[in-house]
Amino acid sequence: MIFFRAMGNIDAIKKHEAALQRCLTVWIVTGLLFMLLPGTFLGAWNLISISDRHGAALLDPAWIQAHGHAQIFGWIGTFILGIGFYSLSKMRGLARFAVRRAWTCWVLWTAGVGLRWATNLWHWQWRWTLPLSAILEVAAFVLFFITVRRHRSEKNPAESGAPASQVWIGIVVVGTLGFLLSLLANFAMAVQGAYAGGGPDVPRGINERLLPLFTWAFPVVAIWGFSARWLPTFLGLSDPDARLLKLAVLVNTVAVACAIGAWWLPATALFATAATAASAGLHIFTRQQRPPKIIGVHPTFPLFVRIAYVWLLASAGISLSAAAWDKAGGLWGASRHALTVGFISAMVFAIGQRVLPAFCGMRVLFSTKLMFADLALLNLGCLLRVVSEIGAYEDYLPVLWPVLPVSAVIEMAAMTIFAANLLITFGQVPPHLRISTIQGPR
Ligand code: HEM
Repeated sequence: MIFFRAMGNIDAIKKHEAALQRCLTVWIVTGLLFMLLPGTFLGAWNLISISDRHGAALLDPAWIQAHGHAQIFGWIGTFILGIGFYSLSKMRGLARFAVRRAWTCWVLWTAGVGLRWATNLWHWQWRWTLPLSAILEVAAFVLFFITVRRHRSEKNPAESGAPASQVWIGIVVVGTLGFLLSLLANFAMAVQGAYAGGGPDVPRGINERLLPLFTWAFPVVAIWGFSARWLPTFLGLSDPDARLLKLAVLVNTVAVACAIGAWWLPATALFATAATAASAGLHIFTRQQRPPKIIGVHPTFPLFVRIAYVWLLASAGISLSAAAWDKAGGLWGASRHALTVGFISAMVFAIGQRVLPAFCGMRVLFSTKLMFADLALLNLGCLLRVVSEIGAYEDYLPVLWPVLPVSAVIEMAAMTIFAANLLITFGQVPPHLRISTIQGPR
């Protein structure tokens, strides 16, 4: 009797696990669609128009913001919510309601982000669709938060006395708060904009102050947290230095506060300090202690992770020079691009292709060569974009204007290959099911 009950429990757990994996796959595919269509294609279109007109002045700011929102919230936010539901529900013992809530949350979130993008693009009835989109996004986040808030990590006796190995949880929590604050700020701006009636775009000065919140306070911190969790294993690095990482998060928080107050020189100097402390705390540039775990990914994976952290530092350095010398938005744009494409996207490409095939049904990445191609193209496109944005926008080297569309096409190719590699992976039968199909039922 006990035996049958135990077997029943195992079956139920397997079913929940499969349901969670299906749900995560839908979240990830949704994120990829937001990344490609409203995100990358619109970004490339904007850049081609800017390059044609030799400046962004004539471009509708609502379109630029539609692109930024689709990338940060539609792609990165969707990935983080999906992975959050999956991993925290697993740790909490596969609570059944978590799967139902994950689906409800997906409906609210996708509707909110999709509506926001359409509103910015077509301006149709924007005075009510803009706040509605922001409400839907906040509602989705609240549902996520109340579902996972009582999360406690599994008690691992080996880890219980080692604060360094647990520091990642605290950092991810801070990143999640950054996510919440970003959504609340977005909601406040949507309501204010609808009330004032000026248009669906956030006024330029305010938008510039909010962008560091949307980037440094949310995806950057979340990536530091996941780096502390996974990089010691994946790259064979020594355990993170908890004190340095906490310092990085603290300094970064003060930097974001300074940026919101438009106190740019201190803000950017602090971003540079935080980025340096985070890289040092994660031992990114130190010698590996053990062989890296690169089964299933391209062997250059550890190199690309390190290059992403070089972009983080470069972005902080460029933003410091922007605070001092920017005249036409070129230095600010280049620093933002180094951060969003060079660091955030490259880290999602690298870690995503390492962990998502397993999370989404114990699959194996379709092609490690495509992984190398997307990471190499992403870095090439980013380098061309950052150099030519500074040279062309700031009028140091106007001959670089024609390079901008080339960089856009290269980055678009990188994003498309990344999406295709994951989508084909999800479409394949996982190896463990292939074996059981060949063996047939016992
Ligand atoms: C094909 C790749 C991409 C292209 C061609 C592109 C293009 C652009 C362009 C032209 C702008 C206008 C400002 C400027 O001139 O710098 C911009 C802004 C922005 N981009 Fe991208 N981008 C790309 C990828 C990304 C990615 C992957 C992210 C985030 C993960 C991102 C986030 C942003 C943000 C947050 C802004 C600022 C939006 C605002 O002003 O509110 N971009 N991008």
